[in-house]
Amino acid sequence: MERIELVALMTSYLNRSEMAQKICLPAPYGVPVLAVLLLPCLVTGVELAINNSSDNQILSTKPGREESLWCTVHNNSRAEELRWYRGDRTVNLKDGNKMNTTNLCILPVSKTDNGVSFTCKLVRNESIQISVTLDVQFPPLLTGEDPPPVEEKNDVKLTCHVNSNPQAEMVWYKDNSPLTLKRGRYQIHHTSEVFQLTIKKVDKSDNGTYTCEAKSVLGEMRKEFHLTVEDRKPVFPLEAIIAAIVVVLLTVIFGIVARREKIFKCSKKTKETPSETAL
Ligand SMILES: *[C@@H]1O[C@H](CO)[C@@H](O)[C@H](O)[C@H]1NC(C)=O
Ligand SMILES: *[C@@H]1O[C@H](CO)[C@@H](O)[C@H](O)[C@H]1NC(C)=O
Ligand SMILES: *[C@@H]1O[C@H](CO)[C@@H](O)[C@H](O)[C@H]1NC(C)=O
Ligand SMILES: *[C@@H]1O[C@H](CO)[C@@H](O)[C@H](O)[C@H]1NC(C)=O
Ligand SMILES: *[C@@H]1O[C@H](CO)[C@@H](O)[C@H](O)[C@H]1NC(C)=O
Repeated sequence: MERIELVALMTSYLNRSEMAQKICLPAPYGVPVLAVLLLPCLVTGVELAINNSSDNQILSTKPGREESLWCTVHNNSRAEELRWYRGDRTVNLKDGNKMNTTNLCILPVSKTDNGVSFTCKLVRNESIQISVTLDVQFPPLLTGEDPPPVEEKNDVKLTCHVNSNPQAEMVWYKDNSPLTLKRGRYQIHHTSEVFQLTIKKVDKSDNGTYTCEAKSVLGEMRKEFHLTVEDRKPVFPLEAIIAAIVVVLLTVIFGIVARREKIFKCSKKTKETPSETAL
């Protein structure tokens, strides 16, 4: 235990001195060691704000909007370079948009920005940072495909894909009436992205149109799924089926050959008869 703690202490000490080195890199080489050690202290006290707020924020917005964020350094004794990140990736900024204050424009906001954080960091010490997380709100959008026709007694899944913020309330309908969830026959799997109905051992009465419905404060949407239940096909051994196909094919081929010969003979006869009458 003690040894592990000691190692942890040593590594944290090493990390700190590494950090100090990184921070001191811009300083001229001739600076005394004491000043080098004090430099990180000078960075503290410096504060960042986005649009005049020094707290991390959540910004509610909509797809297609334009959002402009101003990040400003406060209590700095010298010019400070700032850098924006989208998630963990650096945003490229123009040269005139980096010192003391920097503007980030999100144009247009898209659905894929939902939940993404935009962070402004002090380049000299990236632990000094502030961020805005986007809450991009949009009405529900449903997608999905009809399942292939299913034989009686088999299970079938109807998968309705949901994209909505805030999360929508979901309901399944069959032939326009709300589905009564009979125990054991139906199963519902519901996540933030999927609303899936499983029907166990389908029978003919399950055939029909199923509707996935999503409702949120921003709107609603319905998506239809058509389920076709087919008769259960009797299952034969594969060899017997192949043998049967071969027999049928051979019979058909012989039949055609035999008929063609007959037709051939007939046409010969009909050709011969006029020449006879001509004589
Ligand atoms: C910050 O606040 C000042 C004073 O209230 C105001 O003049 C300035 O426009 C604000 N800046 C931003 C980016 O909102
Ligand atoms: C931030 O401030 C700028 C300038 O005052 C303003 O145009 C912008 O809408 C503000 N952004 C937010 C998210 O409040
Ligand atoms: C600037 O620093 C002073 C003293 O450290 C502090 O009281 C003040 O709140 C700081 N102002 C800002 C905007 O960070
Ligand atoms: C940034 O702020 C510092 C401290 O207030 C100031 O000395 C410097 O001139 C400013 N630089 C720019 C480019 O605004
Ligand atoms: C089965 O459902 C499909 C799709 O909804 C429909 O087109 C078809 O008429 C139905 N068949 C029967 C026999 O009900």
